[in-house]
Amino acid sequence: MPPRNQAQRTAAPLIPEKPTLSKLRDAAARCRACDLWKKATQTVFGEGASRPSLMLIGEQPGDKEDLAGHPFVGPAGHVLDEALAAAGIDRSDVYLTNVVKHFNWVPAQRGKRRIHKKPRYSEIKACRPWLDAEIAVTRPPVIVCLGATAAQSLLGREFSVMRDRGKFVPSELAPFVMATVHPSSILRAPDDASRQTQKQAFIVDLRIAAAQITKLRRAA
Ligand code: URA
Ligand code: SF4
Repeated sequence: MPPRNQAQRTAAPLIPEKPTLSKLRDAAARCRACDLWKKATQTVFGEGASRPSLMLIGEQPGDKEDLAGHPFVGPAGHVLDEALAAAGIDRSDVYLTNVVKHFNWVPAQRGKRRIHKKPRYSEIKACRPWLDAEIAVTRPPVIVCLGATAAQSLLGREFSVMRDRGKFVPSELAPFVMATVHPSSILRAPDDASRQTQKQAFIVDLRIAAAQITKLRRAA
């Protein structure tokens, strides 16, 4: 067999037969399908409801998530929690995950801080089988992509979050799929007024997802 280079490696061979969330989590803990595991503390697998009404997909774990081993437990997670509550979405009804399961970072130029670095296309591709398996096992009726990295890797490179946020778009991932901003973009707002505006817009998008969940529940 020819040696497989980085660009061709994916997690696909690691997906267990008849996967369950716990089998997937165990297998992902040992994943080395791309180089991101080397600098990270641990795999941060998705977690939440096993039959969620909603799956939220972010980019990759951040510094806090890397240390804790759980998704969305850092500052962006707090913004997300607040917005979910404001949109009337119960966290226990949600499955939270990321397109990439290891924290990618570079050292700060000064000091010890670990600075988030966007994952490359090859890393997103390598990690994709985990996400596909999470979707296949939990079968969420509604998926919301958080931010451009998740949206473009799942809905196409031409997808524009600014143009198409809060609208359901056709996708094979689930019956109802949309994208909105990443909660960390709200934290980067230049001042409090724009932070409030952005938070409200994020909540408006999540309410559209919430309304769809309610509709589906009534129809069931
Ligand atoms: N940002 C993400 O995209 N995912 C996390 O889990 C935390 C921050
Ligand atoms: Fe495996 Fe994904 Fe981690 Fe890469 S980022 S080592 S593909 S779990």
